[in-house]
Amino acid sequence: MQSKALTHRSLPIHIDNHLILPAFALFVTSSTLLYYYFSTEATRRAFEAARRRHLLQREKLASSEAKYASLRIHGQFANPFVEWRDTPWWETVLFWLGRIRGNSDLTSALPITKPSFDLLFPPAVSALDGPSRLPPSIRVFGTATPSLSESWVDAATVTASAPTSGIGIPPRIVFDPAPAPEQGPRMTYTWLGQSTSFVTMDGFNILTDPVFSPRVINSWFGPKRVRSLPCELKDLKRIDIVLVSHNHRDHLDEQVVRELNNTVTWYIPMGLRDWFVRRGVYNVIELDWWQEIHHKERQDIVIAAVPCMHWSGRCVPYDTNRSLWCSFVVKSQQHSFLHW
Ligand SMILES: *[C@@H]1O[C@H](CO)[C@@H](O)[C@H](O)[C@H]1NC(C)=O
Ligand SMILES: *[C@@H]1O[C@H](CO)[C@@H](O)[C@H](O)[C@H]1NC(C)=O
Repeated sequence: MQSKALTHRSLPIHIDNHLILPAFALFVTSSTLLYYYFSTEATRRAFEAARRRHLLQREKLASSEAKYASLRIHGQFANPFVEWRDTPWWETVLFWLGRIRGNSDLTSALPITKPSFDLLFPPAVSALDGPSRLPPSIRVFGTATPSLSESWVDAATVTASAPTSGIGIPPRIVFDPAPAPEQGPRMTYTWLGQSTSFVTMDGFNILTDPVFSPRVINSWFGPKRVRSLPCELKDLKRIDIVLVSHNHRDHLDEQVVRELNNTVTWYIPMGLRDWFVRRGVYNVIELDWWQEIHHKERQDIVIAAVPCMHWSGRCVPYDTNRSLWCSFVVKSQQHSFLHW
């Protein structure tokens, strides 16, 4: 109320109380907020009632595909599971308080280790002519203090008895009796933080929910990473496909979309294609729950989107639940894995 123009004396009606304007402002603000609260609450209740009606209708359905088909009500996706419950606001507050307080044990419990790149991208056949020529990183596996970020190998290239010599490693690597050195390890899984992981499967390379930025919204704004990255995006020399489970910012990093653009095929849940197309990225395959597809360039690889419980939105509340969320099952002739 500093400005002269705004005092009660300048009003057409003479109000003889200097508190009247602030009181009026307070009244307008609080009634707007109350109106907003009650109207969203009413919408939320109506939506929840509609969701319950759908659940009742689906109760008698026999097939899982029908019972747990994706559910859309008034343009918004919902969880067709009786088990789903909304997260109350105070749980969110507690979560963030915990984040601010930090976790001092994290550094020792989760040491950051560089992925074994020579295992992920094995050198050419000629360089690998026997167990003694295994890339050095393989010997790291099964040491006394294994760490979570080690790449985990299910079936490696060489026949048994390999690197037990010297260091006496209890093999966490299971060696496949049938040698296929030209293919490298048939399956590796490398966790890169949050839901970002790099999976190689029969020579097919998969990146999941890629986030490589230091912060969640953009490089200078938004919550910071809890742990730094074990490697950079460019270290993953070849990526065939990217699986995106939903559009939350801690699962889909716009910077990565810019960098990879159309060089990879993006497998995404329903309703997210427009977001990619607006950024000039067309190499995307949108899947609904239960849909599966053979990857075009590798017909032996099947990618299926399957149900999961969650929600979506990058600019909440404007785009809340406008696109779907999903888990993925990826299958090759020999292997399969679930990303959720
Ligand atoms: C979004 O969907 C989730 C899951 O169904 C639900 O709990 C939440 O209330 C929805 N949010 C809005 C704003 O509709
Ligand atoms: C992706 O590449 C296309 C050309 O292929 C370009 O038009 C578009 O701007 C690129 N998108 C991003 C996000 O860099």
